[in-house]
Amino acid sequence: MPCRACGDAVTQFLDLGRQPLSDAFRSPDDVSDEFWLHLKAVVCHGCHVVQLADPVPVERMFHEEYPFRTSSSRRMSSHFAATAERLVAGLAAPDPFVVEIGSNDGTMLATIADRGIRHLGIDPAANMVGEALARKVNARAEWFDAVTADRVRDEFGPADVVYAANTMCHIPDLPGVFTGLETLLADDGIVVFEDPYLGDVLRLGSFDQIYDEHFYLFSATSVARIAELHGFALVDVEHLEVHGGELRYTLARDGRTPSPAVGALIAQEGRERTHELPRLAAFAAEVADRRDRLRDVLDGERAAGRSVAGYAATAKSATVLNYCGIGPELLPVVYDTTPEKQGRLTPGSHIPVEPFPQDLADYPDTFLLFAWNHAEEILAKEQQFVDRGGRWIRYVPDVRLG
Ligand code: TMP
Repeated sequence: MPCRACGDAVTQFLDLGRQPLSDAFRSPDDVSDEFWLHLKAVVCHGCHVVQLADPVPVERMFHEEYPFRTSSSRRMSSHFAATAERLVAGLAAPDPFVVEIGSNDGTMLATIADRGIRHLGIDPAANMVGEALARKVNARAEWFDAVTADRVRDEFGPADVVYAANTMCHIPDLPGVFTGLETLLADDGIVVFEDPYLGDVLRLGSFDQIYDEHFYLFSATSVARIAELHGFALVDVEHLEVHGGELRYTLARDGRTPSPAVGALIAQEGRERTHELPRLAAFAAEVADRRDRLRDVLDGERAAGRSVAGYAATAKSATVLNYCGIGPELLPVVYDTTPEKQGRLTPGSHIPVEPFPQDLADYPDTFLLFAWNHAEEILAKEQQFVDRGGRWIRYVPDVRLG
């Protein structure tokens, strides 16, 4: 299939095998056939964006039972409060209008709503839109596309800011989104979006950033090229530490001068050969090696009679569990704070997801840390586990037990 962003030819560099939908947590009595896709990553020769080779069924992924909740991490909540303050500080129009695509439970827009600023959240997950409405955020359960953009502009007027976090990379029909942005954005408006960064994935070997919902893995180079195809320019870029390393991109179409950070990062990506096949093939080799070493560590814990549990049933963990062939025999349980995931089974690998034990005595000997992107928050919270001899298995930035 040609590149979904620009139509040019692509080349495959990574095969992560058969994978389930990463957020399809099954009830233990569900015997229906599970949906599988073949997870392969390709790079485009034209715009250089990394993407999945095969189409993903977006309606099956983002729906009224979508279990991911932005506010499940304290760090992410404060990240989005700070983001909202930044967006508000940049608003110059007399009666500004802010749109968030993929507004989830309204964590970011809650701050915008508190300031009395006109806003709208658009998200296909009706359950999360309900939670946003409950916190007085104006939101609608819809897909963002050219039709929605037209309707929103008719009703509210042009948007001064369109913001999206961990959403643009979810939408295979990126040209459709850009057509919507062309309609919705005020002439001097900005589009700000943040997503996992290809440069960090290569640097950290974080192959679990590749799963069904992460259709694209962007970089400064690829976003600049894709934006240009739609009459936008990449005018700023900022590295974020959240979610395992992200870039925040700012696009505009009013001819403003890009910040020096844009040229600097594109030059760095060129020097590091971020989009070139030998670099991507080296990453693929590292991924295979890490799978073998992670399995060795888990086998070692089992042989030594030490109990192991997964820490957080993240969407990313689906890639790790299914690619590495880890099932209940190596990892009998994964603990997670999300009520919608508890009492269910991890997708594909069918490991029971349970709430964290109340009592430290019921903790395992070793935790496999799936939420490595929240490591700081989690390690601080779980200091007592380490104090009484508990150990962590990590696989990013490398396989490590300790
Ligand atoms: P993600 O933000 O990497 O997708 O992962 C979020 C998942 O991790 C979500 O299901 C909640 C879970 N989680 C915990 O169970 N405990 C924690 O301390 C954190 C930060 C997340």
